[in-house]
Amino acid sequence: MSDQCDIIEMDSNASDLLSILHEGAFAKMPEQAWSGQEFQQLFLISGTKSYVINKDQQPIGFILLRNLIDEAEIITFCILPDCCNNGYATLLLEWIIKKLRGQSFKRLFLEVRNNNNAAIRLYKKCSFEIIGRRKGYYNSHHGNKIDAFVMQRHLIV
Ligand SMILES: CC(C)(COP(=O)(O)OP(=O)(O)OC[C@H]1O[C@@H](n2cnc3c(N)ncnc32)[C@H](O)[C@@H]1OP(=O)(O)O)[C@@H](O)C(=O)NCCC(=O)NCCS
Repeated sequence: MSDQCDIIEMDSNASDLLSILHEGAFAKMPEQAWSGQEFQQLFLISGTKSYVINKDQQPIGFILLRNLIDEAEIITFCILPDCCNNGYATLLLEWIIKKLRGQSFKRLFLEVRNNNNAAIRLYKKCSFEIIGRRKGYYNSHHGNKIDAFVMQRHLIV
């Protein structure tokens, strides 16, 4: 992995950038792309934070989180396909985990499409465990309902 990599917190002004990255990363996935306006709406909810990862000063992915008292939820997370399989998602996720631990958060959780094998493997590699299933949680752009796994990672040992 290039060492010319940094992670920067962004706010709602980055909504259009997040939408472009999201569309690029999810283009071949059943999930619907989110517009810049939808990202702006998400930032209106208290505790919403985004962190963009740059490689050679170019944004290649991001994580969108919501902090809820002493827990945090990953709202969405992606790396552009051309940059995948280089450890960038692991780097960003481990960075976030370290940051949340430093802020005394107790748990990080997320929902993931139950057949998104790449993401599930990534989360398991980063010590997340499956704790539940939400039926029909996702709407695909084909109109189907898809189940999600709920996964969590304890942040305090
Ligand atoms: C899932 C995603 C974030 C992984 O990003 P990445 O930068 O390629 O991930 P990493 O290179 O850090 O890989 C970490 C682990 O993920 C798993 N993984 C990544 N890509 C994979 C693939 N295509 N197939 C199977 N496992 C994969 C592997 O376990 C890998 O570890 P390993 O290389 O030691 O086996 C990326 O593929 C993506 O953005 N996908 C589309 C959006 C998405 O599904 N987001 C998650 C929604 S909750």
